[in-house]
Amino acid sequence: MKIAFIGGGNMGEAMLSAILAQGLSQPQDVSVSDISEARRKYLEEKYGVAVTGDNRLAVEGREVVILAIKPQNLAEVMAGLGGQLKSDQLVLSIIAGATIRTLSSGLQHNRIVRVMPNTPAQIGEGMSVWTATPEVSKEQRDRAGSILGAIGREIYVDDESYLDMATAVSGSGPAYFFLFVEALVEAAASIGLSRDMAQEMVLQTMLGSGHLIQKSGKQPAELRRMVTSPGGTTAEALLALDKGGFMSLIRQAVKAAYNKSRSLGGEQK
Ligand SMILES: NC(=O)c1ccc[n+]([C@@H]2O[C@H](COP(=O)([O-])OP(=O)(O)OC[C@H]3O[C@@H](n4cnc5c(N)ncnc54)[C@H](OP(=O)(O)O)[C@@H]3O)[C@@H](O)[C@H]2O)c1
Repeated sequence: MKIAFIGGGNMGEAMLSAILAQGLSQPQDVSVSDISEARRKYLEEKYGVAVTGDNRLAVEGREVVILAIKPQNLAEVMAGLGGQLKSDQLVLSIIAGATIRTLSSGLQHNRIVRVMPNTPAQIGEGMSVWTATPEVSKEQRDRAGSILGAIGREIYVDDESYLDMATAVSGSGPAYFFLFVEALVEAAASIGLSRDMAQEMVLQTMLGSGHLIQKSGKQPAELRRMVTSPGGTTAEALLALDKGGFMSLIRQAVKAAYNKSRSLGGEQK
């Protein structure tokens, strides 16, 4: 697959490395355009791909154009690429908050896949939720699915509004998890554990529990009940969380992220 990357930063590199590792493209089929010369040199040396500082040059003859720049650079990139893409080229954007409407009017292009990835994609453990415009062909959708499958799991949705929900759940989700880990390490230290020991215990507990949900095929509530003997220590902790409104706080947090995502998308229209 002939691919161009516009932006070869953290996410661009993660996708590039996964695409090459899975043999979806060969290095000679990939071009990366990045504004930073140091970045270009690094990517050229490490992956053997063609690099350029010229976005228009990078997209020439490419089947898929991946937009992996920061949202604040989107306007300048669209100003340069607008009207330059061939109508059958597929644009795949991972830019947070950039709506299909913004992308298609800025690029004057209608074959667009919009993706909400998350940061674990950087190690191939991402969760990407994506949608496509009606002009994207079945073959192009399959390509998008295989690119996103290379950086973790992917879910296709047929309505862009689901991306605001995904933003609040899987996009922002890693931060909720990291905060929970921080809080548990903090709490462990407060009852006398060393930070190093606490960090190791917490992390392995989180990872092990996540894998248990996945591998046991049981629902989280069922697994939770299995840890919680009546009148025991876990029950005491869960009672304290319940009294503090844990479930309702999480609901409020997700709602706040969802509303924010919707309002950001709305502002761009
Ligand atoms: N990081 C994640 O896991 C994650 C998760 C969800 C969504 N996303 C989305 O992914 C996108 C990329 O994030 P990132 O973390 O990979 O950002 P990043 O590391 O800053 O990468 C962007 C790259 O694009 C370059 N660039 C800036 N302006 C350019 C231009 N006009 N033409 C070509 N290249 C240009 C940047 O160079 P300079 O550094 O020199 O400006 C940088 O190397 C963002 O839109 C973000 O919303 C990321």
